[in-house]
Amino acid sequence: MFYLWDWTWMDNMGKKRRKSCEIRIKRRIPRQTRMIQKILSKLFGLTLVADLPRHSTRFAVKHFKGKRIKVVEVGTFEGKNAEDILNRLSVTKFWIVDPYESHNDYSETEPGQTNKVLNKAMSRATKRLSEYPHLITWVRKYSDDALDEIPMADFVYIDGDHSYKQAKKDMVNYWNKVNEGGILAGHDITAQNYGVAQAFVEFCSERNLKPYITRTDWWVVKN
Ligand SMILES: C[S@@+](CC[C@H](N)C(=O)[O-])C[C@H]1O[C@@H](n2cnc3c(N)ncnc32)[C@H](O)[C@@H]1O
Repeated sequence: MFYLWDWTWMDNMGKKRRKSCEIRIKRRIPRQTRMIQKILSKLFGLTLVADLPRHSTRFAVKHFKGKRIKVVEVGTFEGKNAEDILNRLSVTKFWIVDPYESHNDYSETEPGQTNKVLNKAMSRATKRLSEYPHLITWVRKYSDDALDEIPMADFVYIDGDHSYKQAKKDMVNYWNKVNEGGILAGHDITAQNYGVAQAFVEFCSERNLKPYITRTDWWVVKN
């Protein structure tokens, strides 16, 4: 099993801070360890989150029941979630859509992600996903510009620019790329990313879709 723990906390200025630590273990974390996590969180104000597998991925595992599927991820960064999806689902093709380039809207929600950071993230993702060169197509473009290169897929995961405007656009545009019976999902539906929440509520109510939200993930099924 593969856990990524994110330490997130608010600093004195009320700004969100985050540190990640990747841990690979063979078994589920025992209950006692989870208790320790809770105590640490209470004492030091740290939120300890098992970041992977994401809840939409868990849902997808049950939903697709081993069926061979095509996957798209919008916003891949270091490729941790992409690797997790590739490990858990029967993926026949995987499109990565990420410009790996800093831009204004994105800097507002993720100020630390400079070009230098993103270039490093791309190298890490390339290395991390090097086991799957036959499955992956890299589309180094903004989600809006990549649309012509993205075919219909079964599982589309959106985790790019979390501003309201772009999150909504991505939901609308990539919904058209989801096959019947497929899933459109995404990350970071949190208090800090209010725009994602607003976009998701509007997107579902405009189409009368049943929304799923668990922890930081949102998703809908195309029926
Ligand atoms: C939060 S990170 C993704 C993390 C990754 N999904 C994971 O869970 O491991 C966001 C990524 O979105 C990319 N990004 C930002 N704006 C984008 C856009 N308009 N289209 C596609 N990707 C975008 C950034 O370059 C960055 O790598």
